[in-house]
Amino acid sequence: MSSVELRVPGIGGGADVEVIEISVAVGDRIEVEDAVIVLETDKATMEIPATDAGVVMNMNLAVGDKVSEGDLILTLDVEADASAGGDSQSGVSEPVVDQKEEAPVVTDTSSSSSNMTVRVPDLGGAAKVSVIEVSVSEGDAVTEEDFLIVVETDKASMEIPSPSAGTIAKLFAKVGDELNEGDPIAELTGVGGVAESASVKDANSEPHVEASASEKSAPVSQQTMIQQTVASTDTPSLTTAVAEKAASELNQSSGKVHAGPAARKIARELGVDLTLVKGSGPKQRIVKDDVQAFVKAQMQKAQSGASNVVAGSGIPAIKLPDFSQFGAVERQPMSRIHKITAANMSANWLNIPHVTQFDEADITELEAFRKQQKKVAELRNVKLTPLPFILKACAYALAQYPQFNVSLDMDKEELIQKSYIHIGFAVDTPDGLVVPVIRDVDQKGIWQLAEECMALAKKAKDKKLLPSDMQGGCFTISSLGSVGGTAFTPIVNAPEVAILGVSKAAMKPVYDGEGFVPRLMLPLSLSYDHRAVNGADGARFTSLLSELLGDIRNLVL
Ligand code: COA
Repeated sequence: MSSVELRVPGIGGGADVEVIEISVAVGDRIEVEDAVIVLETDKATMEIPATDAGVVMNMNLAVGDKVSEGDLILTLDVEADASAGGDSQSGVSEPVVDQKEEAPVVTDTSSSSSNMTVRVPDLGGAAKVSVIEVSVSEGDAVTEEDFLIVVETDKASMEIPSPSAGTIAKLFAKVGDELNEGDPIAELTGVGGVAESASVKDANSEPHVEASASEKSAPVSQQTMIQQTVASTDTPSLTTAVAEKAASELNQSSGKVHAGPAARKIARELGVDLTLVKGSGPKQRIVKDDVQAFVKAQMQKAQSGASNVVAGSGIPAIKLPDFSQFGAVERQPMSRIHKITAANMSANWLNIPHVTQFDEADITELEAFRKQQKKVAELRNVKLTPLPFILKACAYALAQYPQFNVSLDMDKEELIQKSYIHIGFAVDTPDGLVVPVIRDVDQKGIWQLAEECMALAKKAKDKKLLPSDMQGGCFTISSLGSVGGTAFTPIVNAPEVAILGVSKAAMKPVYDGEGFVPRLMLPLSLSYDHRAVNGADGARFTSLLSELLGDIRNLVL
């Protein structure tokens, strides 16, 4: 076993630099260039990478410690084959400067005093960088040092600031682009003049973090690219003002985020908007744990939200007790039809302001006529129930009151008036409720309607209805007449705007002006969408139905 000490490298002359993150623990196996600690000055954040691979034997630092160049970070048990991977002699590596706090060089290649092409700066050895954020748009006015784009390699990311105030005339970079040093980022117009070019300014105001990199002979990793760029004497570099501004702007209120590459990487993987994450590190720096905690909190919120409200509606959901405490229970999956019906009923009930109008039709004569036709019906092999008469009456009423034959397009604030009359009728099947539709009811006779009712009801009960059999309805009839009941409030079958509920006809004493006479009365319940139909029209519609069903001669006219 041989051990190597990792020590704090040259950090631009900085002394007493704060340790803000310890990235490895005793016992961890680390590779060359793995970040071991993160340091932060008032101007920059730096990841210190390992120069050797091995196992961490002891960690000499803790978060909050102040370190200077040469201080011991940790001791590594170096594996024989790993020692070749780094500068084991020095045991230090060039620091990695964190993206947001460290604005890299912007190269001004324009010869014009009013136009400037901003280019990708020296990348410190990195072949390519990916554009992960574009902070400006064409036409934007920028001030000097406003960030233009954020780029990233697999190990570090950095923001590239504007070297001058001006207007973005053209933006060349877009998210996902792979850029090389010298590639154009943006064309600036209205730039102050040549004297303000980044190279001139930067040459005069090198940030103090640069020196160490050039002084050190340690191998330059990709992670050191920003530092190396800053250190280079023949390239323009970061101004102290830029670094200070960057540091001061790294807060959530400005929309900029103060986060390291590891936190950014995991945020991108999990689709987290870092501006929403609260940083727990020094100066609200976002660390990996913050991103993970944010995701966890969001998931918990979503889960508890889902149990309290109907998803997205803000409506309190119904909490189920543990029924087994009251007796034996068995859970069964809902059928497909049941699930669709449940979803549609909820949507219709929640979206439509319902009103139900009740009425009665005297069907004494209709019933007498129907019974007379029983023999004919048998010969025709058709069952003649009140339903075809009700269908015909509804078609007539829809033609008289076209406001019932519409759909509402609330997005466009338009009424869609239909000039056809297709009517659906609810069929009760063992799997649930389905609504086949009879087309052009107004153009069909009672016998044909009776035949189609029978055929469609059979198809429904045999589960043979096609989607086209259930489409295009303008209005629905829900008949519970064969079952019973005196009235009910059916739910409108959107996008239709009205539905007729039919209950069981019953003999009732009806006053005819002279005395009470027994009449067969059919209860009608018309539910309608009050956005499309007003109350008076609702009453007119059921009055007309009563009239039509009370004297079926009206229907044949
Ligand atoms: N009052 C009194 N009797 C009625 C009646 C009414 N309103 N409607 C039907 N009947 C009678 C019929 O005349 C028939 O009697 P008959 O053989 O003596 O002539 C009997 O009830 C059975 O009728 P049915 O076979 O059900 O035919 P229908 O044409 O009335 O209904 C369907 C056909 C498909 C609509 C029906 O079978 C059905 O499924 N209804 C349930 C609809 C439903 O569940 N709606 C609820 C939606 S929320």
